[in-house]
Amino acid sequence: MGWERAAEHYDQAFGTLTIQTAEQLLDAAGAATGTRVLDVACGPGFVAEAAARRGAAVVGLDFAAAMIATARQRHPALAFQEGDAEALPFDDASFDAVVMNFGVLHLARPEAALAEALRVLRPGGRYAFTVWAGPDQAVGFGMILRAVEALGQKDVPLPEGPPFFRFSAAEEARRTLERTGFSDVKVQLLPLTWRLSSADAVFDALLRGGVRTAAVLRAQTPAALDAIRAAVRREVETYANDGAFLVPMAAVLASGSK
Ligand SMILES: C[S@@+](CC[C@H](N)C(=O)[O-])C[C@H]1O[C@@H](n2cnc3c(N)ncnc32)[C@H](O)[C@@H]1O
Repeated sequence: MGWERAAEHYDQAFGTLTIQTAEQLLDAAGAATGTRVLDVACGPGFVAEAAARRGAAVVGLDFAAAMIATARQRHPALAFQEGDAEALPFDDASFDAVVMNFGVLHLARPEAALAEALRVLRPGGRYAFTVWAGPDQAVGFGMILRAVEALGQKDVPLPEGPPFFRFSAAEEARRTLERTGFSDVKVQLLPLTWRLSSADAVFDALLRGGVRTAAVLRAQTPAALDAIRAAVRREVETYANDGAFLVPMAAVLASGSK
């Protein structure tokens, strides 16, 4: 499975970026001291750790054994377990807050994951998730997609999943949460910045640390891949600033109450 392979690089590639949404995600879910929090698709456990720092009683869940192993190694005092976001191994109403940081966009059945989050929440509990904004605002993705479009082969077989940017549209995120049964739905844009020390870091992160874009890149011929890498590098170089490259990577934060 793609995420088993990505686990080793994910942290290094995306860790500094995805961790930036942790506090706002936890705020949107109402996580505080004593709150029972479930961090679904927890990866290496960034959000779980931030929840624990607030004094929440947190459980991190991910279906990739390698991610759970990394999370346990990094945060030995916290509870992590393997499990599927679309069939949560918890009783009804067992959490006050459920969060999912950049997980929903990878799921084959996102509606099932939202319904499961609703089920395990207590009445009045809150669910919050983040996804990347569209490629014009999550610029790192935009660069790769444009380079593949111009220089590579686009229609390669991908892991099953919804359109990658489906929930980047605020209206779609809102509608899907409401249709699942959530109320008091809120959607906001989070302007994150990816601070990179190398102009190849965007390409490398997506080739090694991800799954779906990585599959598109790995399916390219060596020559096309070289051309894509060079095009992305040139574009990252336009974001040079103070000895680093500051690439805008906006995210969308959506939340709702049970
Ligand atoms: C982009 S990573 C996000 C990790 C982490 N939440 C973060 O903020 O960095 C997506 C994670 O979703 C996990 N994942 C994908 N599909 C899943 C599923 N059906 N059930 C549980 N975890 C899943 C992957 O193993 C991976 O760790």
